[in-house]
Amino acid sequence: MVDGVTRADPMGVLRRRTSEKWRTYPEDVLPMFVAEMDYPLAPAITAALREAIEVGDTGYVDPHDTGAAEAFARFAARTWDWSPSPERMGWTTDVSVVIVESLRRLIEPGDGVIITPPVYPPFFTLIPEAGGTVVEVPLLDGGNAYALDLDGIDAALARGARAVLLCNPHNPVGLVHGRQELVELSRVVDRHGASVVSDEIHAPLTHRRERFTPYLSVSDEARHHGITAASGSKAFNLAGLKTAMFVAGSDRMTGLIRSLPEEVLFRTGLFGLIATRAGFAHGQDWLRGTLAAIEDNVALLERELATKLPTVRLRHPQATYLAWLDLSALGWGEDPAQYALEHARVALGNGPQFGTQGAGYARMNLACAPETVVEAVDRLAAAAG
Ligand SMILES: Cc1ncc(COP(=O)(O)O)c(C=O)c1O
Repeated sequence: MVDGVTRADPMGVLRRRTSEKWRTYPEDVLPMFVAEMDYPLAPAITAALREAIEVGDTGYVDPHDTGAAEAFARFAARTWDWSPSPERMGWTTDVSVVIVESLRRLIEPGDGVIITPPVYPPFFTLIPEAGGTVVEVPLLDGGNAYALDLDGIDAALARGARAVLLCNPHNPVGLVHGRQELVELSRVVDRHGASVVSDEIHAPLTHRRERFTPYLSVSDEARHHGITAASGSKAFNLAGLKTAMFVAGSDRMTGLIRSLPEEVLFRTGLFGLIATRAGFAHGQDWLRGTLAAIEDNVALLERELATKLPTVRLRHPQATYLAWLDLSALGWGEDPAQYALEHARVALGNGPQFGTQGAGYARMNLACAPETVVEAVDRLAAAAG
């Protein structure tokens, strides 16, 4: 960290990593696709994992260990003024498992589950995995900002959909849903006796000027019909350690968590639990520095685009390290990331995978060095001719 801003690892270190980001493409490709960070781990996490390795702490998770849940609860209280109870949380492998296991218990086979595209691509497959049917109610695109289509959600629930899979903050557009919208959503869902699974994996990455609202904090209705998927995996770059949590705010949803087979808990990675606890308990300074780096990169990308690729439009994120880019004016077709990979050797997220609204768009990962952002825009600009 320099001057309160987290610095990315040097390229020589990053190239030694064996994760998807660094092994999918040859070295001449700048990898800015999958949601992994180029920053070093928070020092508290490195220390905790080092200690675990020192003592060979590589067994099963202790099902009675509430340390990570308590650390998350304290983080939530400090950061969002929300006090979830550690007694109402449960652990498992990852957020995808939280979503699937929750939906399995909230819907009947074939029931419709609403998603709000453009949205995190696996949502399209996690719902069928849980036995449901995808119902798309796209975000409203007001040009400058996106918003939930509450009337559209109301209508889809009236037609029989039984649940909403909410993405808050929203990947890829970086939308932080406002408290009033979430209160309204909770009323609409309550009216139809449906459920909400709120994926809040990106919540700790809400930009410093914005205010994140946890779904379970908005109303009694939300707590009755909602369950949250939370994790340190995006904020602290721990995806490979396989740890996420169910969070409930009512007896009903706590019952859902308690009804899960014990094996769902035992699939949690112990290193993940150790790292998650360290991150939420002691990683706040690192996280603040990391948000500073991300916000600086968003501003840098905006400046770079303005001078080198003025027809490309950045949909300004309020959260996440993801930049949703409208590249349609470049004439690179439905899937500009494909063109960028072939002609600029920059790997971006493919817009159409996020839904039909992603035609002409690509997603750029900005959890990297500023030099990488500049290099990416230079390469894209050269390919644009
Ligand atoms: C919105 C959202 N949900 C879930 C995930 C995946 O989480 P996990 O690896 O814990 O399944 C991601 C990963 O980027 C994501 O952006």
